[in-house]
Amino acid sequence: MNDVRKTYPTKSPVLVTCGLPYASGPMHIGHLRTYVPADVFVRLLRKMQTEVVFVCGSDTHGTPIVTAAEREGVTPEELFRRYHQHYVEIFPRLNIIFDNYGTTDDPENHHRTHEIVRALQENGYIYSKELETPYCDNCGRSLPDRFVRGECPYCHADARGDECDQGCGRYLEPGEILNPRCAICGSPTRPVRRRHYYFKLTAFEDFLKEYLESVDGTKNAKNYALGWIRDGLKDWCITRDLEWGVKFPGDESLTLYVWVDAPIHYISSTEEWAKKTEQPDAWEKFWRPGDGKIVHYIGQDIVYHHCIFWPSMLKGSGYNLPYAIVASGMVKIEGHNFSRSRGYVVWIDDDYLSKGLDPDYLRYYMVATTGQTRDLDFSWDTFHDKVNTELVGVFGNFVYRALHFTHKHFGAVPEGEISEEVLDRIRSTIDSIVAAVNEYELKKVADDIMQLASFGNEYFQSNTPWVLVKEDKAACGRVLYDALAIVKALAILIEPMMPGVAEKIWEQLGFESSEIHSILLEEALVPLPIGHRMGRPVPVIAKIDDRLLAELKSTIETRIRRAERGEGTTEEGGESQMETVTFDEFKRMDIRAGKILECERVPKTKKLLKMRVDIGDEERTIVTGLADQYAPEELEGLTALFLVNLEPKKLAGIESQGMILAIEYADQPGKWKPLTVESVPPGSKVA
Ligand code: MSP
Ligand code: ZN
Repeated sequence: MNDVRKTYPTKSPVLVTCGLPYASGPMHIGHLRTYVPADVFVRLLRKMQTEVVFVCGSDTHGTPIVTAAEREGVTPEELFRRYHQHYVEIFPRLNIIFDNYGTTDDPENHHRTHEIVRALQENGYIYSKELETPYCDNCGRSLPDRFVRGECPYCHADARGDECDQGCGRYLEPGEILNPRCAICGSPTRPVRRRHYYFKLTAFEDFLKEYLESVDGTKNAKNYALGWIRDGLKDWCITRDLEWGVKFPGDESLTLYVWVDAPIHYISSTEEWAKKTEQPDAWEKFWRPGDGKIVHYIGQDIVYHHCIFWPSMLKGSGYNLPYAIVASGMVKIEGHNFSRSRGYVVWIDDDYLSKGLDPDYLRYYMVATTGQTRDLDFSWDTFHDKVNTELVGVFGNFVYRALHFTHKHFGAVPEGEISEEVLDRIRSTIDSIVAAVNEYELKKVADDIMQLASFGNEYFQSNTPWVLVKEDKAACGRVLYDALAIVKALAILIEPMMPGVAEKIWEQLGFESSEIHSILLEEALVPLPIGHRMGRPVPVIAKIDDRLLAELKSTIETRIRRAERGEGTTEEGGESQMETVTFDEFKRMDIRAGKILECERVPKTKKLLKMRVDIGDEERTIVTGLADQYAPEELEGLTALFLVNLEPKKLAGIESQGMILAIEYADQPGKWKPLTVESVPPGSKVA
């Protein structure tokens, strides 16, 4: 035996949490970079005999919810209930199973938030101060957080009120942003003075330095946070002028900043779990100083909140501190930063689950593609490759071969004894997996499993059971006995990543499928009982069909093109939805015939064409994304329909002053035809 740690560093119970999704839009692939590794980690810990509680919930407060609700014309509560329901339903469809999934608007969370803020007040960590915040005269309201855009004072990128979302990623304090303008109407803002409450973050500087040096998890989390502390901390404004949210205890006219009550839901969700399981005090073993361990899974975009604000709040109010903070790199789409408004997004329900794709393939892809802290550049091509070569070609192939051959020639587990070589191989795989779990590096776990499957293939191939079966059936049985031991090990080891696939293998091995979830890792060392009857083997993983692949790719392309054309998806609300419009809204659109006088390609772009268009009373420059389908000469001289009062937009540095209307072929997604109107003079209007 060797001395690799067989368990997570602690025997104590572990609480695992995930960054809460904002209940303002549907689940997208970026979210999965938090939820899939966390779920895999939890299942692995359980297989290592660690007691784990896994909680999450919907984030229902703050400007992300309020702006989305305004856009959809519903109340924040109506909006969050709808998306909360979406999350409640979609997590289990991805085999992501929480012990509790609540919302930050639950009474438990209002209560716990008040309790913590009061404790911070009593301990002298909260004070009030007047400050200037932006006000929009046009909209007639205060502009907290995402209601304002402007310039980041640190890196000068375009940023939103509380976060430099396009640039350096820093958290921004109210009033800090330069050249603020209203995010709703675009007007410049006017500063107004208002009394707000501050948390004395600066008092926690020394504590944080020491704490972060010792916190477990991924290096990116602690290193970023230590860097920010070196740059200097500022006290943190924790109230906002916003109706919706948890009220500030003591001054009901102010609402707490969403990043106060959101992480507190990690506590209230644990309380909800404790109540549900009829052990009302059980949450305290994690949150009150003691030996329970808290592990937070988050994306790199929210490291500041989890490594700076959150430990300070916990420390200042007497709670247990996180044991580990595991931050993932960000998900990009085909090389582009994730952006709903620019079409670089993959929706989990619409683009994946509802197409009938197996959730386990995506789970595998999310953890096996790249290391935990690196960015993951998603593309359907790499997804397709991974499924078809690794999962089908290596893993599925070995499992099916071994099961099928045994079933056909023996029907049951043949007589044999596990060979040292195979046993050693399984043992070293388990050791390596446990070591990887302790480093939060699940890609390593996936690699180890694939290597074992590939060893299985070689073992099968080099022992030629198909020859032995004719010449020496007992010898053939012994080879298959080993092969089945590897299959059994693979079923157990793959379960955390691919719970559904593991169930299928378990059933084909002749066991009750749901049992696989509670089987411990070390069971992988125990071969199958001789004579045990097997189930009927069928391939457990199917290739991604080429036609489906083409369809998936074209969905993204169409979305990007629509966004380039200025149509759109909204930043938070997901896909623009089919809703009715009033006649007045329709009348506001100025759609007219325009004659394309000149048309040329925009250099260094794949799809953009720049047109000079006569729209009757003036000439306009209009940029469109049709260059991959039409040569400039084909469009020149045509008269087509244009939306001319669309907000101007810069595309590849050129301001586009309108949009050509085009129709997408229903049978060929991604193929467009401009709407031409011949023999009508430029400037003629559609009504
Ligand atoms: N509501 C906050 C988190 C509050 S935690 C107390 C939030 N919500 S979110 O919906 O934007 O993100 C939910 C989780 O998904 C977070 O862990 C976040 O880091 C992660 N991701 C969301 N988009 C992501 C990518 N494009 N890439 C990787 N992870 C990202 O943040
Ligand atoms: Zn910045």
